[in-house]
Amino acid sequence: MVTTQTGTLFLNPDRNLALELVRATEAAAIRAVPFIGKGDKNGADGAAVDAMRKFLGTVDFDGVVVIGEGEKDKAPMLFNGEHVGTGNGPACDIAVDPIDGTSLTAAGRQNALSMIAVADRGSMLDASTVFYMRKIVTGAEGRGVVDIRKPIGENIRALAKAKGKPVGEIVVAVLDRPRHAEFIEEIRATGAGTRLMLDGDVAGGINAAMYGTRIDMCAGIGGSPEGVATACAIKALGGEIQAILYPKTDEETQKGLDAGLLFDHVYDADTLVRSDNTFFVATGVTDGGLVRGVRRLGPIIRTESIVLRSHSGTIRRVEADHLAEKWLDA
Ligand code: FBP
Repeated sequence: MVTTQTGTLFLNPDRNLALELVRATEAAAIRAVPFIGKGDKNGADGAAVDAMRKFLGTVDFDGVVVIGEGEKDKAPMLFNGEHVGTGNGPACDIAVDPIDGTSLTAAGRQNALSMIAVADRGSMLDASTVFYMRKIVTGAEGRGVVDIRKPIGENIRALAKAKGKPVGEIVVAVLDRPRHAEFIEEIRATGAGTRLMLDGDVAGGINAAMYGTRIDMCAGIGGSPEGVATACAIKALGGEIQAILYPKTDEETQKGLDAGLLFDHVYDADTLVRSDNTFFVATGVTDGGLVRGVRRLGPIIRTESIVLRSHSGTIRRVEADHLAEKWLDA
C-alpha cells in the first residue's frame, strides 16, 4: 500500500498486471489487421478500440482512462474518465492508444503499434486539454545532459559527448511535419542525422531510450497523450524525457490553465507521471523498429509485444501465437 498525493491508500499495480494487459494490446493489434492498407483510419481505430475495451474488461484492476486518444481528429476512442477493468484490484490511471499510427495502418505503412501505459491512481498528468507537447527523449546518457530549453544543436553535441561518439553518428527521430522544417535543418547543421517518422512518436521515444537501437534522441512536437505514455515507458528504461506543452490556440491555453496545467514549464518523467510504479505494453500492428507487426502463419496469428515495468526495470519481449480460428467471430 502507498499514499497518493491526495492521501488515499491503494494497492500498487502488481507484477502480473502488465502481462495481463498485453492481451488487450494483442487483441487490438489483431483486430486492426483487416484494415491495414485499406485506407480506413476510423475503421482500424474503431476495431482496435472495441477489442481493447473488451479485453480490458476482463482484467482484475480498477482503471480510469486518464489519457484516451482520438479527440484531436474525432476518431473512435476510449474516453477520458472511462472506467476499465473488473473494478477489483489495484486502482490505476491508464493511458491508451489502441493504435498509435492509425494513418500508417490505413496506408499499410510500417511502425503502427497498439499501446497501454498504467501507473498508480492519480499519478498521470492529465494533459488532454492541450493536444501537443514539445518533447525530447534520450537514453540514460542524456540524464542531466540534455535540456529542452536549449537549442537542439547544443543538446545533440552534449549527448554525443556523453555517449562518447562523434556528433556525425547521432541519429535524431523527428515527426516528418512542415512544422519541423527549421528544426530538422538545425539538427542536420550539426552533422547529426535524422530519422523522419511519418507517425508514431511513442515508438520513436522508446527507441531513443532503449539500448541497441539506431536512434539516440527523439525530439520535436508530438501528441501530449503520447508524451505521458512515453514517460511511463521511460521510467522502466531509465532514460530521459522532457516536455513543454505546446498549445495551438488561446482557447487551448485557457482550457489548459483551467485544468491546472503549467505552460513554459519543463515536465519531466516524474512530473508527467508522479509514480515510480509504471507499466508500458505495446504490440506491433505493422512491422516496426520496436516490434514486428501481426503475422498470419497458416492457422496461427503471431503477435510481438514489449512489456516494460519500472519497478523492476524489466523489458520483456512477448511473442504469442494465437489460433486464428478462435478469432473468427470472438
Ligand atoms: P494517432 O495515430 O494515434 O492519431 O497518432 C499518431 C501520431 O503520429 C502520434 O504518434 C504523434 O504524437 C501525433 O500523431 C502527432 O500528431 P500530428 O499527426 O497532428 O502531428
